[in-house]
Amino acid sequence: LQLTGASTLGALAGCAGRLPGTDDDGGREVTPRSTVTSDPDSSVSLTAGSGTIRPAPETSTTNWMYEGQYPGPELRVQEGDVLSVELTNSLQKATTIHWHGVPVPNPVDGVPNVTQEPIASGETFTYTFRAEPSGTYFYHSHVGLQLDRGLLGPLIVEEREPHVEYDREYVVVVDDYLPGEPELPSGSGRGGGGMMGDVRPPYEGLLINGRLPEDPPRFEVAEGERVRLRFVNAGSATVFGVRIAGHEMTVTHADGRPVEPVDVDSFVFGAGERYDVVIEATNPGTWAVQADALDGNEPPARAVVEYESAGGGSPQRPSSVSNRLQYGDLRSISSLDGVSGEPDRTFDLTLSRGRGQSYTWTIDGQAYPDADPLQVRPDEHVRIRMTNQSPVVHPMHLHGHFFQVGNAIKDTVIVPGHRGQVTIDFHADNPGRWLFHCHNLYHLDAGMARVVRYV
Ligand code: C2O
Ligand code: CU
Repeated sequence: LQLTGASTLGALAGCAGRLPGTDDDGGREVTPRSTVTSDPDSSVSLTAGSGTIRPAPETSTTNWMYEGQYPGPELRVQEGDVLSVELTNSLQKATTIHWHGVPVPNPVDGVPNVTQEPIASGETFTYTFRAEPSGTYFYHSHVGLQLDRGLLGPLIVEEREPHVEYDREYVVVVDDYLPGEPELPSGSGRGGGGMMGDVRPPYEGLLINGRLPEDPPRFEVAEGERVRLRFVNAGSATVFGVRIAGHEMTVTHADGRPVEPVDVDSFVFGAGERYDVVIEATNPGTWAVQADALDGNEPPARAVVEYESAGGGSPQRPSSVSNRLQYGDLRSISSLDGVSGEPDRTFDLTLSRGRGQSYTWTIDGQAYPDADPLQVRPDEHVRIRMTNQSPVVHPMHLHGHFFQVGNAIKDTVIVPGHRGQVTIDFHADNPGRWLFHCHNLYHLDAGMARVVRYV
């Protein structure tokens, strides 16, 4: 994993100069990743607009989406390729795209009013960046609640030399389905939850690759194959528990970063997290892939693993969970540079529901955008300790960097409710202004964010 290596910086440094605060011994250098100007290896045009989705034969609704598709078109490039995406905004509202998980140069990170002006209706904006490191990512609008209207799609950066062998792969985008216009709960109203708790939006179901469980996507496999499944939690307010009937899953990547393989029968992921797993197709039949909302009552999202030999039929359901993935099971194959030993700077942050009448969520009592930036210096080893004073989970996501959590390298991590504590460490190697926030979109929109600002 080369996040700060010579080749990465050489390719990305552009005209940027050396910043104060970098190592004097000539070892590590921290240079702003300026916008890539070389010719793209891959150019894509995306139009954000409204259109009709049909998540089941009898169900259709108008949503917002890219290229008239939900989920949006899969973008797939090779590690190190320069990807250029021209976004045309055909919505009536301003929008942006964020490349969730990819440590892009700051000017193309897609955060409105932090890294760019929102793209007005009728305008275009081009995002160009080098796609690295390899991994399973996704892209989505970063304006307001637009992600929950359907403005999302998978981004796959393929390894040049895969460390996992597999015969075929499927991308599995798991989402919560909100047909209408998303709204923030108004204060203490909108049923239950109380001061400390929370209310989920009125979801009409749970989707895999845009399908409701009555018409699930089918993943064909042949006996003897190793099948890679790239799971993306693109939901806006849902923690999913995932199981596959009849098969053990070998987890090979967490948030795109390779881990030592772990065998489990289920994993849990919060909004913004990704897991890659491999299954061995040694159990012919028709089997359900099931994603249950851990915090909701909707019927589980479903896909079907279908052996060529099986000849259809209804899928077998997964049995109960006995061996669920824990963060402590994850051991990254590579290590993150610049985060060993004691940190140069530590932030102790409390995550909680705001006091008062309106619906707000806070970090250390402040609701973004009326919140102080977290200031860091280039090359620092930064630690963030989070304590969750609310009963609900917060999947916390850091832009522009990977972080170390336990023995894993991730970019999004669930902080459990009821005084759950999680500590992350990152190397301040990507100067700019980066959002750090809860990926529950409603919490984000109600203030649960801070800017990490390099000074
Ligand atoms: Cu998917 Cu600010 O992130
Ligand atoms: Cu949250």
